[in-house]
Order: sequence, then structure tokens, then C-alpha cells
Amino acid sequence: MARLLVTGGAGFIGSNFVHHVIENTDHTVTVLDKLTYAGNRASLAGLPEDRVELVVGDVADAPLVNDLFSRHDAVVHYAAESHNDNSLDNPHPFLKTNVIGTYTLLEAARQHDVRLHHISTDEVYGDLALDDPQRFTETTAYNPSSPYSSTKAASDMLVRAWVRSFGVRATISNCSNNYGPYQHVEKFIPRQITNVIRGIRPKLYGTGQNVRDWIHADDHSSAVLTILDRGVIGETYLIGADGEENNRDVVETILELMGEDRSEYDLVTDRAGHDLRYAIDSTRLRRELGWEPAFTSFREGLESTIAWYRENEDWWAGAKDGVEAFYASKGQ
Ligand code: NAD
Ligand code: TYD
Repeated sequence: MARLLVTGGAGFIGSNFVHHVIENTDHTVTVLDKLTYAGNRASLAGLPEDRVELVVGDVADAPLVNDLFSRHDAVVHYAAESHNDNSLDNPHPFLKTNVIGTYTLLEAARQHDVRLHHISTDEVYGDLALDDPQRFTETTAYNPSSPYSSTKAASDMLVRAWVRSFGVRATISNCSNNYGPYQHVEKFIPRQITNVIRGIRPKLYGTGQNVRDWIHADDHSSAVLTILDRGVIGETYLIGADGEENNRDVVETILELMGEDRSEYDLVTDRAGHDLRYAIDSTRLRRELGWEPAFTSFREGLESTIAWYRENEDWWAGAKDGVEAFYASKGQ
């Protein structure tokens, strides 16, 4: 049994991880989360109070972070500003949370010699051509495109430097696009599902040819637990489940699964600097640590995600109008 500190545990992937830990281990969890627009207490509802505690606070608050590190065995760092479109609108919080926040955690890990796992994204590698036979591996050069991905790249570099220079016991994982329950309606898949529920036509950026490599958030969680258990300190592991799909196919499948005509969507203004394709080669994680994803059918994963959004309108309804007004102001 370990005492885990999970930053960003009230967000999408962090809350999925907390649920996964409670269901699959006997660890206790403290969530440190600022409850920004992306954080939601309701994502932790129903979890046992004797095993899960929520501390509302900022990862860049050094005294708070130091106090929490002194009382935990390991830290999993999910907290971030996570949305590319927001980073194009206002990069400042991305610098503050993703860079200064990670620096603050690294200094605390150094001081208290606490094991740290840093959650990152495949977007640090930039993008691939549609017909490129290569996929990202642990040795692909960093080449981030957006304020979001560049601040995540910066945070990864800080982790590597703190391992090498100060002996901090850290690992890094870079995962592909996640989907599943508790994802904010600003993101692609929940935006389209909730649009259909509300009778709004789904919105596809550009021509919809962009490819993302989808993984269910629960598979991301099992991979992170595997790295926490067996990962080699100082190493990076790529997490992916061979789920490449272009955005047009995703929208058409959502429409079909929700009983609508596959052509009932709009093409809207493209994202500035829009990365064309992401694709992960997760051979290292599978071979060296023995991890395998459980969700092997994207279509079935989408079906269960659609069911979750239908059944949990209370969870997302409050954010929907504001998100759509923001996109509408940009022609998206
Ligand atoms: P999210 O936006 O849903 O959640 C982020 C959480 O962090 C929220 O609960 C928010 O309140 C909290 N937070 C933000 N700033 C904070 C601060 N200063 N102090 C404390 N808490 C703060 O994001 P997500 O999609 O769950 O992403 C989680 C992590 O996974 C991020 O580090 C992201 O870069 C990474 N990641 C995401 C994806 C994806 O597909 N969403 C893929 C790979 C990696
Ligand atoms: P998103 O969920 O924002 O994730 P990321 O930018 O990290 O990949 O977007 C996923 C893809 O979907 C990306 O290619 C942008 C596209 N997209 C749309 O086509 N329409 C939308 O309404 C949104 C939000 C995204």
C-alpha cells in the first residue's frame, strides 16, 4: 500500500486514474487540484472517503507542495492547462502551470526524495505526414507546434534535467489522445457527442483529414500504474494503443452510433498551426514492462463513451453553452 499524491486528479485523465487506482490497488490517494474550469469535484464523486482526499490548491504553490510531498510515497503529475485551442487564445496560464508548476514539483521531489511520475503528451514530437510509415518512439526529436505542446516539452526537459543533475527519482510518459468518461466538452470527442445530444451539428476543423491516435483513458491509467511499479528511473515510455483514426471518420462514427445520418456535420475554420497526424509506437512499454491495452475496439470504446455522456448530462451541461460561445466567436 502506498500513499499517492495525484496532481490534476479532478481533471479528465487524472480522475480516471484515481478511479482506476481505487478499483485495482489498495493505495490511498490525495488529489491536489486547483479546480480550474477543467477540474470538477463531481468527477471524484462516489469514491471512498477513507482512501481519497481532495486538496484544492495550485501546483505552483511551493509551501503547499512541500507539505504534501513530505506526506506521500509517490506523486503522479497530471495537472496542466491541456487544451491547444485555449493556448492559442491565451498562452500565459500554460507557462505558469505547465512549466513553473512542474518546476515547483521537481524542487519538492528533490528536497523530499519522493518518486515522481510526470504525465506528458505525444504532441511534444510535433506532427507526422499522413503517409509517413514512421511513428513516434522514445528517441524521436522534440518539435512542438503550439503553446500547449511547447510548454509540455519544456516540462519534460525540466524533469530530465532534475533527474540528471539532482538525482530526482522520476519517470516520464508521453501518451496519445485519450477518450472516455469525464472529458471536458471543449475537447473533440465530447464536444461532438454533446452537440448531437443537444441537436447541434458536429464541427470538424478544416477538411477533417487530421489523424489522432486514440487510447481509452482507462488504458492510459493501467500503463501509468505499470510504469510506477516497474519503470526505470530517468526513462521515458510512450503510451499508445494503435488507435489511429482521422477526425472525419470519428465524427461520422459518432453520428452513426447516435442514430443520425453520417453526413450531418459542418466543416469550420481550421485551427492555426493544426498538427496533421500523431502516431505512437509503444513497443518499449509493451516489451520491457509487459503492458497491454484492454480496450482494443475504438468503436466499442466510443459506444460506451456516448452512453456515459447520455447518462451524465448533469456532469457536463453547465460547461456546454460557454464552450460553444467561445468556439462560435472564432468561427468554430
Ligand atoms: P484536463 O484539462 O481535463 O485536467 C487538468 C486538471 O489539472 C484539471 O482538474 C485542473 O483543475 C487541474 N489544474 C490545472 N492547473 C492547475 C494548477 N496550477 N494546479 C493544480 N491543478 C491544476 O486535462 P487532461 O486531458 O486530463 O490532461 C491531464 C494530463 O495529461 C496533462 O498533463 C496533459 O498534458 C496530459 N495528456 C493529455 C492527453 C489528452 O488526450 N487529453 C494526452 C496525453 C497527455
Ligand atoms: P482535441 O480534442 O482538441 O485534441 P488535440 O488538439 O490535443 O489533438 O482535438 C482533436 C482533433 O480534433 C484535432 O485534430 C482538432 C480536431 N477538432 C475538430 O475537428 N473539431 C473540434 O470541435 C475540436 C474541439 C477539435
